[in-house]
Amino acid sequence: MEINSIAKGLKPESELKSQARPYFNHSVEFKRKFSATERAAKLEEVGLNVFSYPSEMVTGSDFLSDSGTTTMTNEQWAALHQGDEAYGSNRGYFLLMEQIRQTFGGDFASKNPNMPNAFLFHQGRPGEDALFTAIGRLGDGLIIPSNGHFDTTHANILANRMHPKNLFSHELNDPNSKSFFKGNIDLNGLEKLLHESADKIPVVYLTITNNTGGGQPVSMVNIKETAKICGKLNVPLFLDACRFAENAWFIKKCEPNYIGSTIPDIVREMFSYVDGFTISFKKDGLANMGGGVFLKENGLFIKQHPGIGNALMDHQILKEGHPSYGGMSGHDIMALVVGLRQVTDESYLTHRINQVKAFGDAMLAYGIPIITPVGGHAVYVDMNRFAPGLKPGDFSGISFTAILLAAYGHRACELGNFSFGSYDPKTQKEKFPRMNLVRFAVPRLRYEKQDLEAAAEAVSEIFKARDDLPAVDVVYGKELPLRHFKARFKFRELVKP
Ligand SMILES: Cc1ncc(COP(=O)(O)O)c(C=O)c1O
Repeated sequence: MEINSIAKGLKPESELKSQARPYFNHSVEFKRKFSATERAAKLEEVGLNVFSYPSEMVTGSDFLSDSGTTTMTNEQWAALHQGDEAYGSNRGYFLLMEQIRQTFGGDFASKNPNMPNAFLFHQGRPGEDALFTAIGRLGDGLIIPSNGHFDTTHANILANRMHPKNLFSHELNDPNSKSFFKGNIDLNGLEKLLHESADKIPVVYLTITNNTGGGQPVSMVNIKETAKICGKLNVPLFLDACRFAENAWFIKKCEPNYIGSTIPDIVREMFSYVDGFTISFKKDGLANMGGGVFLKENGLFIKQHPGIGNALMDHQILKEGHPSYGGMSGHDIMALVVGLRQVTDESYLTHRINQVKAFGDAMLAYGIPIITPVGGHAVYVDMNRFAPGLKPGDFSGISFTAILLAAYGHRACELGNFSFGSYDPKTQKEKFPRMNLVRFAVPRLRYEKQDLEAAAEAVSEIFKARDDLPAVDVVYGKELPLRHFKARFKFRELVKP
């Protein structure tokens, strides 16, 4: 009997409950041990602010961010050693421009020296700073609509006296919606806004995947329709492309027309509809550092603003360094070249996104309220349903993340009433956002199933005791901008009746 026919009689590999990872560990770091008592003491010392807590003392898993926290591959480490640290025109720059053309399309890294259109920065936000500084000079009262601006994008738009406007999809607000693409922009809202004020809108933005909207993906249909609406009214369209590969995977798996397409083909199609993009390579660049602004050669944005390429280059030289490294080191550029190639590997993406989903499923199995469906890079716990007894000003997410870190050693991040709220010292009024979330962002290629299961179980223990979750008071920084990075808290003393 042939071995193949015996194997064919067995349950297929893809139907087994557990799948082997598409990689193995190349090197590991042992964690130091710290007891719950030591972790609690350190948290009190840093005013319960998890950002100020030393990462070495995170004895569980660190879900603070998926940005720059990727475990690099052996090919990336090898490439790192080929980094060329020359001040002008290092070897990696040319390789990177070729990779940009291959990944996103030939129009995004021009070979014409008189037409600069690809700009490197040390991470995403300095690129946003450069772009919105240039756009801000175009006029007063400008509006930048989006399916959901990330907080640094929002802040850079405001810093340049423009108005960020989020047009979240209606499905995002509907817990009963089974839509796979809750990250979409609200097309009717966009069309209405453009008809009213196209002359005030220099560019429309789509964030893929939609980090502010629960990490939810955007469909190809939505990208195409957005491009059509923008095209009719002569308004350029940009992507905030940090998680472009994860978004492409969702299109392949959930949009019927794309089941037979490859991830690289889907990525190129997504970018074919837009006039430019900003990106932090710390996510789907699989790199620890890097960012960029890319304008389509002969695209609508460059046609409308022919001087913008030179303005961006001047900004880059003034703030970051020579355009061929743009604030990145030569070895980071080499690691990025490889990362951009490897990130579109379908088996990697399938594992990555299923891992995040399994983490969400483990939380759901304990009854923990999370945003569903789970997006590409993080699981978001809904604190309003987790601790309904606490009021917005009790900052349940801050309390929960501090207790989780002290008791079980896992670090997550409040993105809710404190991070997105504000306090006006003049009126002494607090403003609170609609959603009160705690984000568990999963770093790429870093954790195994048991790490995520351990975190879900730890969360479930706090969930069981949720009626005892204490409120916190802000002891420093309530009125500060970006206050979550700087504030300090203490648990409120319970007044016994
Ligand atoms: C959607 C999105 N845009 C922009 C940024 C900013 O990138 P960076 O952190 O590299 O400045 C981030 C970072 O998390 C992001 O998630």
